[in-house]
Amino acid sequence: MDLFDRINKLKEEGLDQIKQAENQKMLDKIRVELMGRKGELTKILHSMKDITPENRPKVGQEVNQVRDILQKQLDEAKDHFLQAVIAKKLEEEKIDVTLPGREGHLGSKHPINIILDDLESYFIGMGYEVVQGPEIETDHYCFEMMNLPKDHPARDMQATFYIDEEDLLRTQTSGDQARVLEKHDFSKGPLKMVGPGKVYRRDDDDATHSHQFQQMEGLVVDKNVTMSDLKGTLEMIAKHVFGQDRKTRLRPSYFPFTEPSVEMDVSCFNCNGKGCPICKYTGWIEVLGAGMVHPNVLENAGVDSTVYGGFAFGLGLDRFAILKYGISDIRDFYTNDVRFLEQFRKEEN
Ligand code: PHE
Repeated sequence: MDLFDRINKLKEEGLDQIKQAENQKMLDKIRVELMGRKGELTKILHSMKDITPENRPKVGQEVNQVRDILQKQLDEAKDHFLQAVIAKKLEEEKIDVTLPGREGHLGSKHPINIILDDLESYFIGMGYEVVQGPEIETDHYCFEMMNLPKDHPARDMQATFYIDEEDLLRTQTSGDQARVLEKHDFSKGPLKMVGPGKVYRRDDDDATHSHQFQQMEGLVVDKNVTMSDLKGTLEMIAKHVFGQDRKTRLRPSYFPFTEPSVEMDVSCFNCNGKGCPICKYTGWIEVLGAGMVHPNVLENAGVDSTVYGGFAFGLGLDRFAILKYGISDIRDFYTNDVRFLEQFRKEEN
């Protein structure tokens, strides 16, 4: 067969094959068979030496032309397949906007956080600043600065989770008092702060005690702060959280960093004061400790206790939540049962 006929036949066959190809893979195969290194057209180019010199340019030209034509057809076919793939994908991924949407699941606030957020805004409204001390506190701030030197017996009731000689999981938020007192510039006005956060200590694990709980520390220091300021403030907090008719009482108590010291009880939500297992048959539940800031605490922080004085309180947020929502077991706060948590959705604001 004449060489030109062969080239022409290859072209016709090639175009035919391309037309019939069903996918990109088949196209690739056709391209390799015709124009690859071992392809039919390439073979003709390689056999130039057998062709008469005057025919060589013509053959070369013819082969190149056919290659161009085939390549163009291959490109077009490739493009066609690509468009088809895209069209198919678009078809498959079509979104039916008329379908009902999937309902997003909104979590609910933890009851302790509901109380915390509420108290924070309450105190901010009264001009208090909110501070946040470290959960891993130093012995220095947690105890020394708070008038609890190394051999103080009151340490034994609390100090448990030491990390090393100097650092421990704080047993109380009272260290925040010292940290703020040290920094406060009294020429700019009185000090009023609350410091909420987690605390850890050795304690019974029962319905009203846990080895981990949350406190909110409060501190007010200025000239002429009196015990009646403390009493009025505590009364206001209790009424704000528990409602006007919950009864409160102050009992004398002892804390190394306050003198005199008191504890405030709120009448038991469960038995209304008659006595039940929750209030250990006393009719009352202790919600906070408080007192007038001990002069040593002020002096330790470089504040002149002959000029300034104040009051401090530490309230248990868990206790507040138990009382406010009538929860019978403090441990429910930490076991993360969503059914428990979801009950408080309506309390959020
Ligand atoms: N830090 C005390 C406690 O954890 C509470 C308290 C704070 C008492 C401030 C008096 C003043 O029990």
